[in-house]
Amino acid sequence: MRAVDLIHKKRNGGELDSAELSYIIEGYCNGDVPDYQMSAFAMAVFFRGMTARETAEMTLAMARSGDQIDLSPISGVKADKHSTGGVGDKTTLIIGPLVASCGVPVAKMSGRGLGHTGGTIDKLESIAGFQTELTREQFFAQVNEIGLAVIGQTGNITPADKKLYALRDVTATVESIPLIASSVMSKKIAAGADAIVLDVKTGSGAFMKSVDDAEALAKAMVEIGTEVGRQTSALISDMDQPLGYAIGNALEVREALDTLRGHGPADLTDLCIALSSHMVLHGGQAGSLEEAEVLLRDRLASGAALAKFREFVAAQGGDPNVVDKPELMPQAAAVIDVLAPADGFVQKIDAEELGLAAMLLGAGRATKEAAIDHAVGVVLKRKVGERVQAGEPIAVLHVKQDEQAATEVAQRVQQAYTIGAEAPVVSPLLLSVVTA
Ligand code: URA
Repeated sequence: MRAVDLIHKKRNGGELDSAELSYIIEGYCNGDVPDYQMSAFAMAVFFRGMTARETAEMTLAMARSGDQIDLSPISGVKADKHSTGGVGDKTTLIIGPLVASCGVPVAKMSGRGLGHTGGTIDKLESIAGFQTELTREQFFAQVNEIGLAVIGQTGNITPADKKLYALRDVTATVESIPLIASSVMSKKIAAGADAIVLDVKTGSGAFMKSVDDAEALAKAMVEIGTEVGRQTSALISDMDQPLGYAIGNALEVREALDTLRGHGPADLTDLCIALSSHMVLHGGQAGSLEEAEVLLRDRLASGAALAKFREFVAAQGGDPNVVDKPELMPQAAAVIDVLAPADGFVQKIDAEELGLAAMLLGAGRATKEAAIDHAVGVVLKRKVGERVQAGEPIAVLHVKQDEQAATEVAQRVQQAYTIGAEAPVVSPLLLSVVTA
């Protein structure tokens, strides 16, 4: 087999078989297929697309490229969730304990963040002592014991995706449905869960700018998951503005705690309940989505979900007192109000710009090696549709002391808000659901 023939076939709109897809993915991993041929292949896929079968087979070839976690030492239906990215997305911190408190085990591997704010692992490390490196045996034992563990990505999961994603990033081939679907699903399949719930974002801050594209991506991923025997569903949610109010690591943990207490922002709470309902349904702890929602709301109201978070933090070596005293987490030395420049309604908030602002304050990494400041970030005071008066705070920056750059960041945050005389039509957060 020769890579050039496979590129040629795909370029002309042909359909590749399983052996051909394995050849190109394995060859790329072991160096037989060089970057320039893989770039041409990715571009051919970008323009020609892939059939559902091709996408599923490429996904499996990518999942096979590294370690595949066998979660069978954990009893029960293991549920996982994945979000295609979002500013202020702290849903794992809430969904993990919430779903576990309903009796569905969650054995989750999460990443660190690059750009924007940190990833789930960075957020959890805002809690003193929290350990995200557990051995496989410790990981399994903790999930068997308390129903929940979250660890950093260990071992060598989907090296094909790591290499290909980096290549796509610099060859303008990221926004391709088969390439995104195989990238996401190869990681989820290799991570071993029996049930996978996907949060596919659409809107200005997302890869998929239109609901139609987001639905097509969701459908492709649900088909792959179903094909390989994992119960899979996907929700399409709006990402035209940040989720909740807090952007920044300890600030987001604090907001997650409020949500677990039942006092969180409505958008964040609703999205967590919706995603969790599918996990609880797949996990067999409810007979319908409606029943799952009743159970989940009860777990929030009764304090069971919050108690599970406390147990989880203690099990991973963190200080469980942060649950009652979030001020024990790192706090910024100073706060700066960002003021509304005019009277009117908030018509739009540029989520990406706010993510960037939080990163510039130190909440995210510009490079892989950069250190994170857990204390800093942005807390919104107003969201889309709310009325504001000139001179009142629309957001608050949590900054390091004497931070010169903070003034510039404050300007960026102010400019990320569009304020106008008309009340905007606020689109619903949950746009549709795709199931098998
Ligand atoms: N997230 C991924 O993991 N892969 C993509 O291709 C896009 C988003």
